[in-house]
Amino acid sequence: MNMYEIILKKRNGGKLSEEEIKYFIKGYVDGSIPDYQASALLMAIFFNDLDMEELLNLTNEMRFSGDTVDLSKIEGIKVDKHSTGGVGDKTTLIVAPIAAAAGVPIAKMSGRGLGFTGGTVDKMESIPDFKTTLKPDEFLNQVNNIGIAVIGQSGHITPADKKIYALRDVTATVDKMPLIASSIMSKKLAAGSDAIVLDVKCGKGAFMQNIDDATSLADTMVKIGNLAGRKTVAVITDMNQPLGDAIGNSLEVIESIEVLKGNGPKDIKELSLRLSAIMITLGKKAKDYDEGYEIAKEMISSGKALEKLGQFIKAQGGDEKVLYDYSLFPQPKYEKVLTAKEDGYIYEIDAMGIGMASQKLGAGRRTKEEDIDLAAGIMLNYKVGDKVKKGDVLLTCYSSDEAKLAEGLEEAEKAYVYKDAKPEDNELIKKVID
Ligand code: URA
Repeated sequence: MNMYEIILKKRNGGKLSEEEIKYFIKGYVDGSIPDYQASALLMAIFFNDLDMEELLNLTNEMRFSGDTVDLSKIEGIKVDKHSTGGVGDKTTLIVAPIAAAAGVPIAKMSGRGLGFTGGTVDKMESIPDFKTTLKPDEFLNQVNNIGIAVIGQSGHITPADKKIYALRDVTATVDKMPLIASSIMSKKLAAGSDAIVLDVKCGKGAFMQNIDDATSLADTMVKIGNLAGRKTVAVITDMNQPLGDAIGNSLEVIESIEVLKGNGPKDIKELSLRLSAIMITLGKKAKDYDEGYEIAKEMISSGKALEKLGQFIKAQGGDEKVLYDYSLFPQPKYEKVLTAKEDGYIYEIDAMGIGMASQKLGAGRRTKEEDIDLAAGIMLNYKVGDKVKKGDVLLTCYSSDEAKLAEGLEEAEKAYVYKDAKPEDNELIKKVID
């Protein structure tokens, strides 16, 4: 077997055998297959697809390409949650404490942001002194003691995904269903939870831009999860405009705290309750999603979820005083507002455009090595469907660098479309697949 023949077979529309997929993953991880051959195969897959059998084999090989996590020392049904990536998507910071407060153990690994999408690990690092790495026994003990731990992905888990994802990112092969499904599910299965809730983002600020593609991704991931014996539910949710009002690391943590205090924007609050309801139900702390939803609301109104967030921050070395004193977060040096250029309804706020503006302000990385500005970001004052007058303040941009402030502001302005007629509501939760 050799890599040339494997590439040729897929290029000509053939089906890869289990051995060929194993050969590729093993060789790419150990360095014997070079990047140029791996990228050629990824591009051949991009154009000629994988069938379900190939996809299951690829997921499996990636899942077992490194260590897998054993959560059996943690009592109860462990529930994980994963978003396919969005702008302003801070739901993990809200749903993890809600579900944990309801008695569902959360032992979660999260990623960093890349490109225009944010990542939970970067957000958590805006909390002073918060540690996003824990030793395996510290991780397990913390979940047993307080019911929640969230850390960054260790380099030993799914190294194949780590290498392939980085290669896809620079070879225009990210937004392909079987590649996304195998990437996400290999990580989720290796991470050891008993049940998985997937938030599949759909729209202009997501990898899946229409409902058919999002449904196909969601269906496939649910099937992979269930075939592996993990109860998996996917929710397809809107990502045409940013989620919530805050985009950027410390701004998003503050918004999450506000939601747990019972405040915060309607969309992020509703999505968080719906995702928490599913997590609580899968964790067998509610008989169905409706009861799970009521429990999730109760966790917020009683203050138990906020208290859980405080315990979680403290356990991971962070300063839990941030819950009541937002001045403890990194503060931006510069800020500037963007005003509406005309009267009318806000017809569109392009999520990808706002994500890119936030990245230009310093909140995201352009390369994996770049440092990020934890104080940088955007606060929106209006959402799609709101009526504005020329001169109204649409948003405020924050940055620690004056030149970046100007760049981000210019990019943000391009994200807005105004019309005389009110746009139809974009459904926040489009489908639940279980
Ligand atoms: N998130 C992942 O983890 N992998 C992908 O391929 C896309 C989004």
